[in-house]
Amino acid sequence: MILNYYFCAHMSTNKVNFRSKIGLIAATVGSAVGLGNIWRFPGEVANGGGAAFLIVYIACVFLLGIPVMVSEFALGRGGKSDAVGVFRNLSPGKWWWMNGMLAIVASYMVLCFYMVVAGWTFEYLWQSVTGNLYAQDAGMALDSVADYKIRFADRMREYIQEDWKPLVNTYVMIGINLAVLMAGVQKGIERLSNILMPLLFVILLVFCAVAFSLPEAGAGLRYFFSPDFSKLTAKVVIDALGQAFFSLSLGMGILVTYSSYFPKDTKLTRTAITVSVLDLLVAVMMGMIIFPAVMSFGLEGEAMQGTTLVFVTLPEVFAHMPLTQLWSVMFFMLLLVAALTSTMSIAEVTIAFFQDRLRMSRIAACLAVLLPLFVFSSLCSLSLGTLDDVRIFGKTIFDFFDTFATNILLPIVAMTTCVYLGWFAPKGFMEDQITNGGTVKSWVLRPILFIIRWIAPVLIFVILISPLLFDI
Ligand code: ALA
Repeated sequence: MILNYYFCAHMSTNKVNFRSKIGLIAATVGSAVGLGNIWRFPGEVANGGGAAFLIVYIACVFLLGIPVMVSEFALGRGGKSDAVGVFRNLSPGKWWWMNGMLAIVASYMVLCFYMVVAGWTFEYLWQSVTGNLYAQDAGMALDSVADYKIRFADRMREYIQEDWKPLVNTYVMIGINLAVLMAGVQKGIERLSNILMPLLFVILLVFCAVAFSLPEAGAGLRYFFSPDFSKLTAKVVIDALGQAFFSLSLGMGILVTYSSYFPKDTKLTRTAITVSVLDLLVAVMMGMIIFPAVMSFGLEGEAMQGTTLVFVTLPEVFAHMPLTQLWSVMFFMLLLVAALTSTMSIAEVTIAFFQDRLRMSRIAACLAVLLPLFVFSSLCSLSLGTLDDVRIFGKTIFDFFDTFATNILLPIVAMTTCVYLGWFAPKGFMEDQITNGGTVKSWVLRPILFIIRWIAPVLIFVILISPLLFDI
């Protein structure tokens, strides 16, 4: 007999749901849109030949990202539990729950270093509000772009290596997360996302308008939208796939956890397409802002790399523009909003695990997840200063957490999840979830199943072993 898991999963559950469709989308987009879009994406475009990277990235989002996202949604909503509980509910007595444990470890490692970068954004927002970020330049003979560049690069380096300052900002971010998460899924995560996501899009639109009015806007857009296929190496393709997974929050248990809060009538495919397209839109809008800005002030090349781009190059751009402080405040607010809604979702993975598996209260679970960050995130932060000498496999603690979680654990979890849903989940499970128990027609059902079974696991496996294959 084929059980209809769609209806079974919803018969006996007292799990909280998102209150509204808008709230559900806002929270899930909030999780996806993060430092990945704003910080990593433009740098990857610059390295990967402009639109050549963009084309591969879009292909990765549509061909792999969306099917894997639908699968994670199916797993969470059908299993109606945390990242470990979904496997226990759907395949009791089997070892698949270990995959959920790996997702929890991966997400927690990401959280440890992500909180530090979120702290940097808080510092830069504060410095922009007070005007201190630009104040020291007043009266100085900084007339060339290079002088400014040195000024902001020095400032960033000094700040990061100062030890106590980044620590204080990291703790502020842990405190804000704690306050929001303790308020719960509906009153904390959903309510805040409902406010912050529209704000994020408004700020992005304002920046697009400003960027288009800059003198070299046309050159910047041409750079972004013209493909340079000579730069399209195997490494770039792999980077595009990794970037798509990171940006869409795949393989971290986040979407499994959030979709366990989806009501039973949520259309999973439509939701996955909406979230992915909005996430892609934010990345593309960032490109349309960054490239005109850096071109207009002659800052190409090195200036377009991750940390440099956000914390050195952009302050430099703002310093050259009228209303410097206003743009600076708006930009770092944008970055903070993106970081906050992502850290909340990453922390929620382990919070849900503690609540569902260990039967902890919401408050106790939040404390159990966030308080240890005072130690782990501190170690990540200090590893860029005093603890620079401490190395794990030759990497600083910060880099080890980043590389091990992002390049190894995330792909393993995503690959194993595909293998489970494609081959080992209860018969008819994916069909039931995608069609809402046969009540929704879905022309994408067959292609999604095909991708989950045959394409996604193989491609993710290639990413995983790519350092061995391509010597990268
Ligand atoms: N998806 C989140 C980001 O892009 C983790 O930052």
